[in-house]
Amino acid sequence: MTQEPTRRIVLGITGGIAAYKAAELLRLLVKQGVEVQVAMTEAACRFITPTTMQGLSGNPVFTDQWDASMPNGMAHINLSRAADAILIAPASADFIAKLAHGLANDLLSTLCLARNCPLIVAPAMNREMWLNAATRRNIAQLLADGVQVLGPDCGVQACGEEGMGRMLEAEQLAQGIAAFFKPKRLLGTKILITAGPTYEAIDAVRGITNRSSGKMGYAIAQAALEQGAEVVLVSGLTALVKPQGAQGVDVVSAAQMFDAVKQRAGDCDIFIGVAAVADYRVAQPSEQKIKKSAGTLTLELVPNPDILAYVASLPKPPFCVGFAAESENLMEYAEQKRRAKKLPLLVGNLAQQAIGSDDNELVLFDDSGSHALPHADKLTLARLLMQHIAQRYEGASK
Ligand code: PMT
Repeated sequence: MTQEPTRRIVLGITGGIAAYKAAELLRLLVKQGVEVQVAMTEAACRFITPTTMQGLSGNPVFTDQWDASMPNGMAHINLSRAADAILIAPASADFIAKLAHGLANDLLSTLCLARNCPLIVAPAMNREMWLNAATRRNIAQLLADGVQVLGPDCGVQACGEEGMGRMLEAEQLAQGIAAFFKPKRLLGTKILITAGPTYEAIDAVRGITNRSSGKMGYAIAQAALEQGAEVVLVSGLTALVKPQGAQGVDVVSAAQMFDAVKQRAGDCDIFIGVAAVADYRVAQPSEQKIKKSAGTLTLELVPNPDILAYVASLPKPPFCVGFAAESENLMEYAEQKRRAKKLPLLVGNLAQQAIGSDDNELVLFDDSGSHALPHADKLTLARLLMQHIAQRYEGASK
């Protein structure tokens, strides 16, 4: 039996309240068999002690760039040379700014600059800091430099405010690292994904839309990238950041989504329709805002093209995966949809549980019947689904 090679990670911790999660993350990484070397900034040591991290990693913790314990005095070089990746969790706004500008004025920033291995960051900060134009620029720079960004998440923050900026949970980060080390099953495969809602204009300011947040589709795009696929993500209006490495195409209406898919469907191997596409649009949207004084308003709605049905009926269709959100009779309606659209695989979920939420429950329908995935967060489900798709796609293309 061939033995898995030992994986080595430098876990860099910067100053932020989310530093407490780094202890659990370290425990999970060690449990996965990863050899972890911890390096902490001075600010990080105010939130969690090096002693805790030493106890959990079983290795000395590096905090000082002038540490004399390395025989050649070059901790900043030696640490990254022995590592398969550096993971910064939490990565504060300040540390992200340093990375974006190539600053190196402490051990952790110096070892990041001197690295010869991939760098992964898990941002953690207040929502206003995350939304600040300077942080947006810095994150864009990191992505352009090939740094992998995991998260952040949306939710209640330590400061009591609510929004984007919370570090991913330790479990999610540990899964991200496990995915990073996994062999890439879909290397060289082109995957086209639709996500989010569509918006059908009624007039200059009003429209018909739905509550799809895009979370499920974006998580699937992330999981596909982790499997080595080339991903194009055609997205309706959402507040989400596109996963690093995905080619994003922003659309508003179903007609625009249809155009974007039509242009690319012939060139993809797998198509996954996660978007909640409006079935109808307003026949004649008004260019001006409709005045209330006009009395009763009657809208004429005309059907939108079915994007998924179009792709599935191409002469040489890609491997097509559809979604169905039903509010009742999920098993019956989802299988009906799969057959009607002649899909090899359809993913069913309950609308009231799935739409807008962080967690979900999926049931997979194919020719062999149905298969339920456990209740979990959307990224975990996306990873399980992607494994299933990879298996089915490999089988179909043999
Ligand atoms: O975005 P989130 O908040 O994370 O929520 C995720 C989700 C609930 C939107 C997602 O998991 C989901 O179920 N998406 C499909 C929504 C739906 O009910 O679709 P549908 O039953 O209307 O359509 C079935 C399939 O045909 C879907 O793959 C859809 O993308 C596609 N379709 C539908 C209509 C149309 N005109 N064109 C299409 O391509």
